[in-house]
Amino acid sequence: MKLRQWLAPVAALALVVVALAGCGGKGGSGGGANEIVVGVYGSMTGNDATFGQSTKGGVEVALADLVEQAGGKIGGLPVRLVVEDDQGKAEEAATAAQKLINQDQVVALLGEVASSRSLAAAPICQAAGVPMISPSSTNPKVTQVGDRIFRMCFLDDFQGLTMARFAVQNLGLKKVAILKDVKSDYSVGLAQYFTDEFVKLGGTIVVEQAYTAGDQDFSAQLTAIKSKNPDAIFIPGYYTEVGLIARTARQQGLTVPLLGGDGWESEKLIEIGQDAINGAYYSNHWALDMPDTNLQAFLTKYHAKYNSDPDAIGGLAYDAARVLFAAMQKMAAEEPTVFAGLGSAKAGTPERKAALDRLRDLIAATRDYAGVTGSITLDANRNASKPAVVIEIKGGKKVYNTTIHP
Ligand code: PHE
Repeated sequence: MKLRQWLAPVAALALVVVALAGCGGKGGSGGGANEIVVGVYGSMTGNDATFGQSTKGGVEVALADLVEQAGGKIGGLPVRLVVEDDQGKAEEAATAAQKLINQDQVVALLGEVASSRSLAAAPICQAAGVPMISPSSTNPKVTQVGDRIFRMCFLDDFQGLTMARFAVQNLGLKKVAILKDVKSDYSVGLAQYFTDEFVKLGGTIVVEQAYTAGDQDFSAQLTAIKSKNPDAIFIPGYYTEVGLIARTARQQGLTVPLLGGDGWESEKLIEIGQDAINGAYYSNHWALDMPDTNLQAFLTKYHAKYNSDPDAIGGLAYDAARVLFAAMQKMAAEEPTVFAGLGSAKAGTPERKAALDRLRDLIAATRDYAGVTGSITLDANRNASKPAVVIEIKGGKKVYNTTIHP
């Protein structure tokens, strides 16, 4: 073959390669396609890894719905998730939010679960004008960060009141001990809200003891608690420590009921706490045996995908993603020009800013959204008002006990 004969096709191929590379544009990290990027962040690993895993699981079911119903697209643009692991650390939550916003150019963040971590990431979202929807952070301060921060769940003042009422009215308790995580905004806040209502109802907090997430040895605190002879121990913490505390309490001969909040919600609670956690009660966002049609349909879908039960975080994360998708779908249908600003091709432009402002307004306007965790209406402070469910742990199973309405 002569030189000229094979040079021609090579030159043509080179031209094609150059032309293709030029198509990349300013589409961010998505390789050039115009798409909608949504950030998910949470503790995929670490001390409370089921929180992050459940968030991711719930959001992925919502995306699977979108694929089934609309080819995974909103307004003609494919929706892509970017998931970041913050390892259960507040500093990493802030870093994850920075990365999702600056590098991945997400239009919204879904997360975090733990209030302290939502509080670390929220100021970054607020400053960048990017909406953040926490599925499950219950501390009041989270949405107070600013008008870009939303949540799908009830707040800890209501949750504290729920458990105090349940303790007095349903269990007839008068003297309660508190064991709280002093470094957790959630734990400190919930302990206070419980105390306020319990004292109002005539109860007494006989002793308060402290720990920090990651602790393994709770014997000193439980010895101090035992000496005050309480009717029950309220432990507003997360499942890993709660499970260990339950076992130590039983080993030390403390047999009174243990009470807690939604931070107990994990399949690992019973695995860690074993028999010691039987007879305990905690407030939660749902119970799997509730006859709600939306919930039951979600459970069927979740089972088909993961072959396991979701926890409440999975349901709240599913609702968070669906509320976000619904807001974007409304925007795409009614204001397609503004909506185009959400496309990754518009990252960094004034159109993007206008689109994010509008997205914020549409999320804020969420009313009577039929979620799998109940009906969601966001109030002027971007909070949802929803009933709380009390779960009893009986024979190693979570059993619905009662519902307390706001
Ligand atoms: N409400 C907890 C917090 O704010 C997080 C949580 C929600 C944990 C739901 C488990 C289930 O920190």
